[in-house]
Amino acid sequence: MLHISHVDLKDMASRYRANLINSCTGYKSCNLLGTVSPSGNSNLAIFNSIIHIGSNPAMLGFVLRPLTVKRDTYANFKETGSFTVNQVHSEIIAKAHHTAAKYPAGISEFSKAGLTEEYRDDFSAPYVKESQIKLGCDYINEYPLAENGCLLVIGAIKHIYLPKEVLHEDGWVQLDKAQTVSANGLDGYALPKLLDRFAYPQPDQETQSLDHGA
Ligand SMILES: Cc1cc2nc3c(=O)[nH]c(=O)nc-3n(C[C@H](O)[C@H](O)[C@H](O)COP(=O)(O)O)c2cc1C
Repeated sequence: MLHISHVDLKDMASRYRANLINSCTGYKSCNLLGTVSPSGNSNLAIFNSIIHIGSNPAMLGFVLRPLTVKRDTYANFKETGSFTVNQVHSEIIAKAHHTAAKYPAGISEFSKAGLTEEYRDDFSAPYVKESQIKLGCDYINEYPLAENGCLLVIGAIKHIYLPKEVLHEDGWVQLDKAQTVSANGLDGYALPKLLDRFAYPQPDQETQSLDHGA
């Protein structure tokens, strides 16, 4: 087995290190963040750091890179108070990847990537029409990470849209039915296959398989 130590990491070429560190922690969620400026310029960017923060109240978080350059997503949700989180599925990976390209604020990544903006239920931020599972969120807080200047941004989940067929009776969303992809580092996209679903574990009891309805 290879061994790479923190000493090796320090001396690595930066692109190599970025690839290594972005992929060695496993598959990540893969979403498009949709925002709009107060003057109506829409913006779309791919993020692989969306995480669960809590379900009651329903919240999510994501890590935003340091504000050493202008970040349109950040500027927009700070001004409007809202953003959308749109799952990437297998049919739109190339378009989704393109949204990481640096366009000036007046140019929308929606049109440059060939994705369609969609407004729903009077929510100010745009959703991605092509996404099957999407959330409307209010910005609630941010925490600077002293170690590297990134921000942990917290959003409150206000709206959830998803196809009926992916939602089970107990609230579980079967992501493979929506072809939701996960990110392998910063440029790899994978389509996970559901293996099983288990009952809540009890001490000294064997893990019990649930019918996952695949
Ligand atoms: C697969 C992938 C995942 C990314 N994840 C993040 C992320 O979690 N946080 C972040 O700040 N940037 C992330 N980026 C970079 C942003 O997508 C990129 O900086 C984008 O241009 C930001 O757009 P904005 O300046 O319009 O906000 C990611 C890029 C790729 C390709």
